[in-house]
Amino acid sequence: MKKIPSSEITPYHVYLSRREFLKGAGIVSAGALLAAACATKPAAENTPSPVTSVSAQTDDFGDPLNTYEEINNYNNYYEFTTDKKRVASLAQDFRTSPWEVEVSGLVNKPRTFGLEDLLKMFPQGERIYRLRCVEAWSMVIPWQGFPLASLLKEVEPLSSAKYVRFEAVYTPDAMPGQKSKFYPWPYTEGLRLDEAMHDLTLLATGLYGTPLSPQSGAPLRLVVPWKYGFKSIKAIVKIELMEYPPDTLWHTVAPQEYGFYANVNPNVDHPRWSQATERRIGESQRRPTLMFNGYEEEVASLYEGMDLKRNF
Ligand code: MTE
Repeated sequence: MKKIPSSEITPYHVYLSRREFLKGAGIVSAGALLAAACATKPAAENTPSPVTSVSAQTDDFGDPLNTYEEINNYNNYYEFTTDKKRVASLAQDFRTSPWEVEVSGLVNKPRTFGLEDLLKMFPQGERIYRLRCVEAWSMVIPWQGFPLASLLKEVEPLSSAKYVRFEAVYTPDAMPGQKSKFYPWPYTEGLRLDEAMHDLTLLATGLYGTPLSPQSGAPLRLVVPWKYGFKSIKAIVKIELMEYPPDTLWHTVAPQEYGFYANVNPNVDHPRWSQATERRIGESQRRPTLMFNGYEEEVASLYEGMDLKRNF
């Protein structure tokens, strides 16, 4: 496995101006149009057909993209079910429009955004990221979306804001898994503000050039590629800036197993299994897990001086 040197990793603004991206932008604005077209209908009537003309067929390690079918038929989405292969069918009629996201807390300009506002305000770019679940499976996914930082800058965080809390939708009538009393619904997650502002941190609206399917977290989900997948919360309705670390669903349920940071780390095992290797969906051999899921050069400085075994 060959890693491209960091000098060749393109910063987002350069990435945006690339010719390939211009091609991608065409795809994405078509995606945005499709999202707008979906606005009046439930998702099931609009099962998106995959657009495979992504800007690359591999990630920056040369690993092939997972297929649209793999990405959309093996999902973690506990609001529906704990059975990864049944999420797609249980979620197919889930209404993802109209949709609003409230951004509030320690900010100068709190505001509620409609999904259409977000699609209009922030240019949608393509990002091919690896997703590594804490359960030790992984995929490579071509997302569309925009940096969370763009949205946060828009609401102007106060200097007292140090953390960001994310809340997913709560609709137990539409989401059968939310009837389970075992989990403290709604699903919540959190980041430190500097993690949230990092250029790699994405709010995803689509993948493979089509709007997100319900099972992938439509219409808006977080993607934090250097952290275990559970940080990448789906179906976000609320983003709140806070002074202190927020409570999060998995940390509340099992703090000894799921830390607040949840950085991918092959040297810190889950109490019940090793994190040294992973199973890439579609491959038969396990492969080594990389520090920070391969994004070490980009993010290691965020954790300088921290004990990553304690702050797992
Ligand atoms: N977001 C919500 N709202 N509910 C969930 O159950 N599961 C998380 C994360 N986001 C989850 C969620 C977990 S454990 C993982 S690994 C990823 O979503 C999986 O994303 P995928 O199904 O798109 O691969």
